[in-house]
Amino acid sequence: MFHKERMIALKNFYLTTPIYYPSDNLHIGHTYTTVAADTIKRYKKLQGYDVFFTTGSDEHGQKIQEKAAQAGMSPQAYVDKIVADIKVLWNMLEIDYDSFIRSTDPKHEKAIADIFKKLYDKGEIYKDQYEGAYCTPCESFWSDSQLVDGNKCPDCGRETHLAKEEAYFFRLSKYRDKLLKLYEDNPEFIQPESRKNEMINNFLKDGLDDLSVSRSSFDWGIKVPFDEKHVVYVWIDALSCYLTALGYGTEDETNFNKFWPADVHLVGKEIVRFHTIIWPAILMALDLPLPKKVFGHGWILFEDDKMSKSKGNVIYPEPIIELYGIDAFKYFLMREFSFGQDGSFSREKFLQRLNSDLANDLGNLVSRTVSMVEKYNGGILPSPKAVEELDQTLITQATETAGKVEELMDKLNFSNALEEIWKLIRRTNKYVDETMPWILARDGNTERLDTVLYNLSESLRIVSILIQPFMVRTSDEIRKQLGVEGAVNWEDAKTWGFLKEGTKLQKGGIIFPRLDIKVELERLNTANNKLIEKRTGARKETKSEEKKPEAPVEVEPVEEITIDDFAKVQLKVAKVIACEDHPKADKLLVLTLKVGEEIRTVVSGIKQWYKAEDLVGKKVIVVANLKPVKLRGVESRGMIMAAEDADGNLTLLSTLEDIADGSSIS
Ligand code: ME8
Ligand code: MG
Repeated sequence: MFHKERMIALKNFYLTTPIYYPSDNLHIGHTYTTVAADTIKRYKKLQGYDVFFTTGSDEHGQKIQEKAAQAGMSPQAYVDKIVADIKVLWNMLEIDYDSFIRSTDPKHEKAIADIFKKLYDKGEIYKDQYEGAYCTPCESFWSDSQLVDGNKCPDCGRETHLAKEEAYFFRLSKYRDKLLKLYEDNPEFIQPESRKNEMINNFLKDGLDDLSVSRSSFDWGIKVPFDEKHVVYVWIDALSCYLTALGYGTEDETNFNKFWPADVHLVGKEIVRFHTIIWPAILMALDLPLPKKVFGHGWILFEDDKMSKSKGNVIYPEPIIELYGIDAFKYFLMREFSFGQDGSFSREKFLQRLNSDLANDLGNLVSRTVSMVEKYNGGILPSPKAVEELDQTLITQATETAGKVEELMDKLNFSNALEEIWKLIRRTNKYVDETMPWILARDGNTERLDTVLYNLSESLRIVSILIQPFMVRTSDEIRKQLGVEGAVNWEDAKTWGFLKEGTKLQKGGIIFPRLDIKVELERLNTANNKLIEKRTGARKETKSEEKKPEAPVEVEPVEEITIDDFAKVQLKVAKVIACEDHPKADKLLVLTLKVGEEIRTVVSGIKQWYKAEDLVGKKVIVVANLKPVKLRGVESRGMIMAAEDADGNLTLLSTLEDIADGSSIS
């Protein structure tokens, strides 16, 4: 009995996606994490696990408060609309989540207030003064060593401003050694490996500062229960959703007791730090068990660029799904990108994979198998006869694929797992070419023909199980055509001979038609642009309909300077003679400038707006007498100038007419 209970306990699996900011509609980047989580859930379920999968929305904070004000709406009304769209999207994609936690859910809010109070009572949180460079869009304070280009945010490259506030602090510093020990004792805790080294080298090696965990400069958040001037800073609020999604801190903690700690938190690489430093420290402070794994996956870029609204290169999933169905889209996301690494999305690549992997390989195998059983045996599955060497090769590969897929799925290597499955699909297609059933039929070699038809169908049955976590609909459709009924079970993919002779196959339509890429590119583009237009249009409309409340205006005192002050700044024209990505920072470019006779290196946080190669040959304006600084290990001598508008559009400064580099500006 005891043993049995333990077995059951071992079979629970809890996985999470981040709770996304509903500041705008979600794009394929967010969809990527969610589809990956859904795939894991289906895979684990197929293996008999009891799985709980949570996702949700992170609704508090200054950025959302400001966005809502711009749209002339209350923050709650603003997020309600976007959260509704998010749920429609997850429904469209048939995402099988068990909980959608909204950080404005009263149950979540109460639990967070309790957690904050508990940490305060235990002395883990204390009150102090905070002063520093603050980036409003990112809601982050940055230390001098973190700032880039003088005073710009290392995350988004925008200007920070000096801000000071009374705040509550979490004693993060005291957890440094415990965190290092956690990583050491649990080598799998941070995945992939490279991200662990990043955390150690960039954040833990030189010690940790205590973390400010409250704000008083805005009020769209959960109030600190014993000091209502303050709201709980978004990260404690957001991270604890992984607990509250399970009912932690409510009357019913059944799910919490059953599923905590999480087996894996899936996150994008930019928030690994929050999940592997702040989150375990908070849990240690609360005396709660720690998650087993945090996987920081790479970014999906759009044609090598980070997607951003201001550049108009946001790819929404809805038009792709509407045109090509959810399975093609999910397949592409899981197959095209290596989960740990950045990858670049392009519509061409999507359509090419649709044609090659889905139409040619899988679709073709399904239709020729079912058609041949129909044509040569009246749609009735024959029984296999003598097994030849060629058959044995196919049987071995088919029954061994599940094991290979397991190994890869356990590492969340979706892409290679699918590649293994496709090897089997291609092998089976080749088997058709090698055995040539049409010749066997012509020559009346029915014994051999029966065997070949059976083996093809059986291999396809195994394929239908293996692809199930990735493409439920296609899996069901194949099984329907094969005439198999009943629930799918992972272990059945390891056994040969499951299909029964005499089964009636059901020929269906073509599952993935071949497409004309040129035509489809046009359609996809138009559909995406239409949706962007509709969404921005809709937001403008609500703006004029609802009465606009006064937006909070920040008046920065303007300090006057004399001409002598200005003369201290040496501005020069410089020519970019080389430019490359910073080896260690995602937002930075390293420029080599020619300023007259002099060659110098300048590091600049403009990678979001410019591609390195596009800048070569351009003339820019450089502050030539700025004190050199080291930015993530690269020395920067000077600063190049740029203009930025309120929407975050940025352009580098240059001169109206071409002029020699080295020229002075006054
Ligand atoms: O960070 N490629 O929310 P967020 C791949 N609320 N993944 C991407 C992506 C891209 N281009 N863009 C977004 C937050 N993602 C916080 C999280 S959790 C306690 C709080 C995915 O709306 C990826 O998972 O900025 C990334 O970490 C997440 O969306 C960021 O979503
Ligand atoms: Mg983000």
